[in-house]
Amino acid sequence: MSTVETSRSGSVAVVRFGEPPVNSLGLATRQALAAAISAAIADPGVSAIVLAGRNGTFSAGADIKEFATGGMITAPNLHDVIALVAGSPKPIVAAIEGTCLGGGLELALGAHYRVAVATAKVGLPEVKLGLLPGAGGTQRLPRLIGVENALNVILSGEPVPAKLFAGSALFDALVNEDPAGAATTLAAAKAGELAGKAPPRARDRSAAGPLVEPLLGFARTTAGAAYAAYPAPLKIIDALEAAATQSFEDGLATERQLFAELMVTPVSRALRHAFFAERAASKIPDVPESTPVRPIASAAIIGAGTMGTGIAINFLNAGIPVFLLEVGKEALDKGVARIADTYAGQVKKGRLKPADAEARGKLLTPTLSYDDIGGADIVIEAVFEDMAIKEKVFTTLDAVMKPGAILASNTSTLDLDRIAAVTKRPGDVVGTHFFSPANIMKLLEVVRGKATAPDVLATTMKLARTLKKTAVVSGVCDGFIGNRMLEQYLRQALFLVDEGADPAAIDAACEKFGFAMGPFRVSDLAGNDIGWHIRKRRALEHPDVVYSKIADKLCELGRFGQKTGGGWYDYKPGDRNAYPSKVVADLIAAHRQAIGVTPRKVSSREIVDRLVFALVNEGAHILAEGIAQRASDIDIVYLTGYGFPVFRGGPMCYADEIGLYAVALRMRELARNPYGDPGFWTPAPLIERLAASGGSFNSAGARP
Ligand code: 3HC
Ligand code: NAI
Repeated sequence: MSTVETSRSGSVAVVRFGEPPVNSLGLATRQALAAAISAAIADPGVSAIVLAGRNGTFSAGADIKEFATGGMITAPNLHDVIALVAGSPKPIVAAIEGTCLGGGLELALGAHYRVAVATAKVGLPEVKLGLLPGAGGTQRLPRLIGVENALNVILSGEPVPAKLFAGSALFDALVNEDPAGAATTLAAAKAGELAGKAPPRARDRSAAGPLVEPLLGFARTTAGAAYAAYPAPLKIIDALEAAATQSFEDGLATERQLFAELMVTPVSRALRHAFFAERAASKIPDVPESTPVRPIASAAIIGAGTMGTGIAINFLNAGIPVFLLEVGKEALDKGVARIADTYAGQVKKGRLKPADAEARGKLLTPTLSYDDIGGADIVIEAVFEDMAIKEKVFTTLDAVMKPGAILASNTSTLDLDRIAAVTKRPGDVVGTHFFSPANIMKLLEVVRGKATAPDVLATTMKLARTLKKTAVVSGVCDGFIGNRMLEQYLRQALFLVDEGADPAAIDAACEKFGFAMGPFRVSDLAGNDIGWHIRKRRALEHPDVVYSKIADKLCELGRFGQKTGGGWYDYKPGDRNAYPSKVVADLIAAHRQAIGVTPRKVSSREIVDRLVFALVNEGAHILAEGIAQRASDIDIVYLTGYGFPVFRGGPMCYADEIGLYAVALRMRELARNPYGDPGFWTPAPLIERLAASGGSFNSAGARP
């Protein structure tokens, strides 16, 4: 609920505004703020005004939720409030603490003076939403700190400590505490000094300078190349140019026009979707945020392989002691060495202080005995992907772990409910599906078993935040959300090779679409043997599923990817580039001949449609089955774990943007292709239903 309160300190009116949790400037706040400022201006007993946020923070800016409804333009809009502040005949001082971002900073820039806590975070992060500061930020900030500094602040979007601007006209005073108190003192002094004269305004300063044009020219070239898919950076440069070359009023009009143009771009819609999707992912409808959590002060990891060691590093980085358990000394030593190497590498690159690396290393206790780990608050199993081995490990964990310990599995495909069933405490069992490299990748799929207790889920979600992961809840199924969808994507990628598209052409089309890497480069990086192993198991479980055999043939040659010096591409030692492989070209040609396919030219559009719509169709099944809680969770899985282009908002957002009617139509078109799995392109019933009703995945009611 929005509240604005005015108090008096002598002749200074202190106006405090707030809308928890971040004091965004929605309509109710704007209305109350405008009324309070107008009242203070009109009050003959008031000589100056202090503008401060409630709850220890100034403001996170415009209420982003209003962007979708158009509520942001309803009067008084942010421009109206800022104009009221800037035009006040009595001096207004902004008192800044906590965060002061976007429209919040623009409001402060409208004030005549600013006092900030030195550590307050200030910035204009609109670019991260595909926008530019649209309430005067591009016009006032360069007038206060110069065009070059303003360019850095606005293009990066990064919040920085106020003290970085010490000595600039942005802040009149930096304090360690009580900014409202310091602002009140300043306000009273300025009222006396001005003695009724108009207070100074940012708009009256100039941003012009001889170096501005070459600077902006250079910025245009760089931004055009670095952010080709993003329209905001170039428009930000245009707006800054207007600040330096046009009158304030004209510059403001230019900014407004550019802001309006950006607001309707699919890129901005996608980035705003991603902002809310990331925050929604942490919420579980039937597990309220008030659910008590279990303390996690120590952890044990079973298996010191690729994943076990990466997972251990996450805990060590968070200051949580870790027991690392292996079956044999050799494997244990190798795992410990891998962790030490990772830290040594970070120290060498200057990313970690040697003392911190040492302190983290000391939190690690390698062991070969289950006797050591029983007291840990959570144990994460990361042994071979083999149900019999996992069942054995969990039987032992059930016997040795203390009551209340969380028993987690890092399995990527196996049935968590089966694993839980071998214990006498299935409620304590949860899946924690980290992604490789586990110490780097942001995504964590938290797998909710049939019996997983609510407090175990709540604790795991909180732990994810401690480990700096983005957690998404998934139900139990083969591959969970991400890998289950990926299977369909990879099946299409391999069918495309069969039909005539070369791996390099498929990768290039995907990368042009915006994927960080195409499917073949990713497979070479992750290891082609992983998929081979999974395909062999699935072929036994689902013998009816149609697959291209080309990837199996590649693996039969031992071409597992970068680690073996060759996969879909050739690799040279010490060189990360992928080179075309004659062996693979010959293998593919022979394979096409063996299956009787005459290769055809496949367009980039077909490649992208088939790969992305394969994800979308499986995503729709996953949503309908309740494996994912909401469509936006699927988007977050793909944005944070699979390199899906952020500017497209994730596969479900992308499909919504195209329109599900058009998506279903295209799938039916693709179904006419006689090659591959004949049932593949049957649109999921959820797509058909939403297409018929004009609905979308991410709108309310997308779930059956
Ligand atoms: N509008 C609406 N809701 C917002 C918001 C905003 N500007 N900023 C945060 N929220 C909401 C979040 O969605 C979340 O809601 P939930 O509890 O329902 O999930 C809640 O506030 C708390 O947010 P976080 O979980 O992100 O809390 P943190 O403490 O981790 O971070 C923050 C706080 C640094 C302020 C971070 O929320 C943030 O960066 N917010 C966005 C800031 C931003 O982009 N401002 C520019 C807005 S655009 C603008 O001002 C246009 C203008 O130029 C015209
Ligand atoms: P890995 O083969 O690198 O490591 C497994 C380790 O477990 C080996 O060091 C092995 O000695 C040890 N181990 C085997 N049986 C054991 C037992 N009974 N007790 C203790 N240790 C035992 O395998 P990786 O890649 O680390 O995978 C581990 C798990 O993580 C698997 O379930 C896998 O599916 C999953 N996973 C793997 C990902 C990857 O990209 N490698 C990504 C996400 C999940």
